[in-house]
Amino acid sequence: MSRINYTDSIPNNVDLSSDRRLQRALEKWQPAFLDWWGDMGPEGWQAKDVYLRTAVSTDKGGWAQFGHVQMPDYRWGIFLSDRIPDRKVGFGDHMGEDVWQEVPGEYRNMLQRVIVTQADTEPASVEQQRFLGATAPSLYDLRNLFQVNVEEGRHLWAMVYLLHGYFGRDGREEADELLERRAGNEDKPRILDAFNQPCSDWLTFFCFTTFTDRDGKFQLGALAESGFDPLSRTCKFMLTEEAHHLFVGEKGVERIIRRSIELTKEDPNGNARNLGGIDLATIQKFINYWFSYSVDLFGSEVSSNAADFFASGLKGRWNEGKHDDHVALDVFRNIAHLENGKIVDKEIPMRNAMNELLRDEYARDCAKVMARWNKAIAKEDFPDFEITLPNTRFHRRQGIYANAHFSPDGTPISAEEWEKKAGEWLPSDADREYVKSLMKPVYEAGKMANWIAPPRRGINGNDINFDYVRV
Ligand SMILES: [Fe+2]
Ligand SMILES: [Fe+2]
Repeated sequence: MSRINYTDSIPNNVDLSSDRRLQRALEKWQPAFLDWWGDMGPEGWQAKDVYLRTAVSTDKGGWAQFGHVQMPDYRWGIFLSDRIPDRKVGFGDHMGEDVWQEVPGEYRNMLQRVIVTQADTEPASVEQQRFLGATAPSLYDLRNLFQVNVEEGRHLWAMVYLLHGYFGRDGREEADELLERRAGNEDKPRILDAFNQPCSDWLTFFCFTTFTDRDGKFQLGALAESGFDPLSRTCKFMLTEEAHHLFVGEKGVERIIRRSIELTKEDPNGNARNLGGIDLATIQKFINYWFSYSVDLFGSEVSSNAADFFASGLKGRWNEGKHDDHVALDVFRNIAHLENGKIVDKEIPMRNAMNELLRDEYARDCAKVMARWNKAIAKEDFPDFEITLPNTRFHRRQGIYANAHFSPDGTPISAEEWEKKAGEWLPSDADREYVKSLMKPVYEAGKMANWIAPPRRGINGNDINFDYVRV
């Protein structure tokens, strides 16, 4: 079952040909998707051969096959992790009941909203990144960008399969609208804010894949716990693809940091910018920006929606299995609130704090990334500098901290102080212009742009100077 059928027009491991109606509906959506990909996918690279991996089976380890393909020929399809026999709902009010193979009527709207919100992020990121190919720092990076892009396209397929397969006419309409909204468009924006922000330089791309794709990891992890079994199985397989996106981001930022240190040491005034690099202070500002936009994606700290998602068994906690109490009633957790300029803890019923729990897990994971970057900095023999992660209260536009100001360490500050200091903490227009001015393409195999260090190794055992994209 986990072997993928590539003879169907839509590759799948869900025995799609046995459901004629669904197959026809998806075959109707397929050309619309390809039109969207042509319009909004990577600009200028559709006719080039790119060294991409494609899913072969959803078994652990053996799922990837590598080869040069043109992106429009990529085999987007529907791949679910194997069904676990006799699986039970693992949390909430339905704890211990059989998982649902069909949408439970009472939760239909809620479930549809969760799926549409997740789905919308997938095409959005492709749109945000569509011009980056024009300024790739190497063919290796160009290939990684396109790998991320085609897989976000596949994630869209994964979600559209659920909409078409389980939500009837409403689902088909939602699937159509996923191809109509546009990242950053004023009239038809994408649903979530971070997915309307421009992504027009590679430092942004690497921060985005580190921090915003990592939000995806945690959302998918929580949905993989779902009592709606098709959603759970879909998200489980998406997580295996997501891991590569996080790798691309983390290693990308790390390589920029390493190069920055080299140039800082080389310059008599200790400024990487003098030698065409990105200075560490600017890198830190971009990290602050994308971390804060990404923590917004988890929703409000105190949320009755989050409580409903948990109670209904639709969205669990990260690693739900590792918790002892899967019902989470009559338990509380403290959440810091701002009152009269002071931080005070308030006891919140655990179910209403589910967004905050997931955000905590996310921030802990991000802190591990910082530790790895700081280890790389230490290896370069560069004392007295560390990359830091801002507090989750810093620079928020959603949730209970949105209408106040906080320094990167989470201390409440006045609006005046914020005005004075924001330029030290977040990228200024001049910083963005500077970073953009460095973005010149390098399309010669094995060569790197001056502002980034080469990767330590290539993809799938190949050299760094392999022809990852045939220009
Ligand atoms: Fe994705
Ligand atoms: Fe991703």
